[in-house]
Amino acid sequence: MAPPTIVTVAFTGLLLSLTSAAAIIPSQDNLESRQEAACAPVPSPSKYPTWSQLPLQTTIPDPFLPLAYTTTDNAGGSATFAQDVMTGKGKNRIQTPEEWYRCRQPEIIQMLQEYQYGYYPDHSQETVKATRSGNTVNIEVTAGGKTGRFSATLSLPSGASASKPAPVVINIGGMSNQPYLQAGIAIVGFDYTRVASDSNAKTGAFWDIYSGRDIGSLAAWAWGFHRTLDALNATVPEIDSNRVGVTGCSRLGKGALAAGLLDKRITLTMPMSAGVQGTGPYRYHGLSGQDETLENSKQGAPWWSDNTLGTFVNHAENLPYDAHTIAAAIAPRALVIDQGTGDQFTNSKGTAVIVYPAAKLVYDFLGAGDKIAMSVRSGGHCDMSGFNSILPFVTHILQNTTLTKDYNDLGSYGSPMTTAYPWATAVPKPA
Ligand SMILES: *[C@@H]1O[C@H](CO)[C@@H](O)[C@H](O)[C@H]1NC(C)=O
Ligand SMILES: *[C@@H]1O[C@H](CO)[C@@H](O)[C@H](O)[C@H]1NC(C)=O
Repeated sequence: MAPPTIVTVAFTGLLLSLTSAAAIIPSQDNLESRQEAACAPVPSPSKYPTWSQLPLQTTIPDPFLPLAYTTTDNAGGSATFAQDVMTGKGKNRIQTPEEWYRCRQPEIIQMLQEYQYGYYPDHSQETVKATRSGNTVNIEVTAGGKTGRFSATLSLPSGASASKPAPVVINIGGMSNQPYLQAGIAIVGFDYTRVASDSNAKTGAFWDIYSGRDIGSLAAWAWGFHRTLDALNATVPEIDSNRVGVTGCSRLGKGALAAGLLDKRITLTMPMSAGVQGTGPYRYHGLSGQDETLENSKQGAPWWSDNTLGTFVNHAENLPYDAHTIAAAIAPRALVIDQGTGDQFTNSKGTAVIVYPAAKLVYDFLGAGDKIAMSVRSGGHCDMSGFNSILPFVTHILQNTTLTKDYNDLGSYGSPMTTAYPWATAVPKPA
């Protein structure tokens, strides 16, 4: 059924129920205004529903259902309501790609800042100064009278020039450089600890400017990626700032995912062995690895996220999102997720059989199914072979090479675990 027809039915039903016997037939004008209806209301910061106002969802949440229609205020907290929400029967779901991009994607990005990352700083209030000295780029950011400084290091592939600029992968924590350089991709790294310490000390360029804010280091590292890109764009003509990948592994993979989510200039997001708070699901956490959960991640490194995420400790199944929601909000931009089957730490299987296929349903809905890829490889946590495993997809996206590898192959993990996302049987079908 084409979406305008669905809209007609919904609109007519609403009108008839409101006007009982009165025969009001919606005019074409009315139909069009319904199609461009206002988005569901988005709460202001810190006014979001708390865990107890959200239904307990044992399966991963329906990405098509706006938050305003997910709260138990809507339904008196009934178990029937939770069941409807989980199975894609929640009312007022997103119906079209247009509505997704206009309403739901911005809502998710704000919701994730509220519940997980903390509110990302307003870049329009920042001044970025960059200077280049050989293969070092010095970056100075000033906002509100405060300044933070860090630097990035370049490795350019042979042949890169201002007239033939190379795409770039910006990484934190190091990566496998040679195959990328040989493929003609520039590598840029920065010392993430100089942007934001991986500790409660809250030192580094980000905190020199934004001290006191309730922001996690994942968002602070994301900010480091973005300001590095500003600086490359201003000082390195051998790099094409419109073809940009971001990567990191483990906690730094969680940071790379945040970097891809929070800046639409990022062409390709490449989280490696990222785990929970990244591409590992909060739900179904015990499928593989050491059982990384919201609880143990928040206990081990509370500084990764904002304080609000801590209020969901012991209530992770009340979170109105999961890792697939983060991935889906990056669409239609490209995302390749790498996990090793020998990873002792993160839930590789959960990422491969739940998070990836669930996010791909949204990419497919948006007509961007070819922009998301899952690399399941042998080897352990942060094994450098992951960079080889994803390279064919990276060159496909950044250099338009023909894709020969099948990134829907979940290897020894087999098939998607469709029981984890029962709303999939009710994915809206755009015309
Ligand atoms: C690079 O800088 C130019 C000039 O300020 C700007 O128009 C462009 O959007 C920037 N590109 C990126 C990727 O930031
Ligand atoms: C990418 O490659 C395909 C075929 O290999 C070609 O048709 C297309 O024009 C290329 N796109 C760009 C932007 O170079």
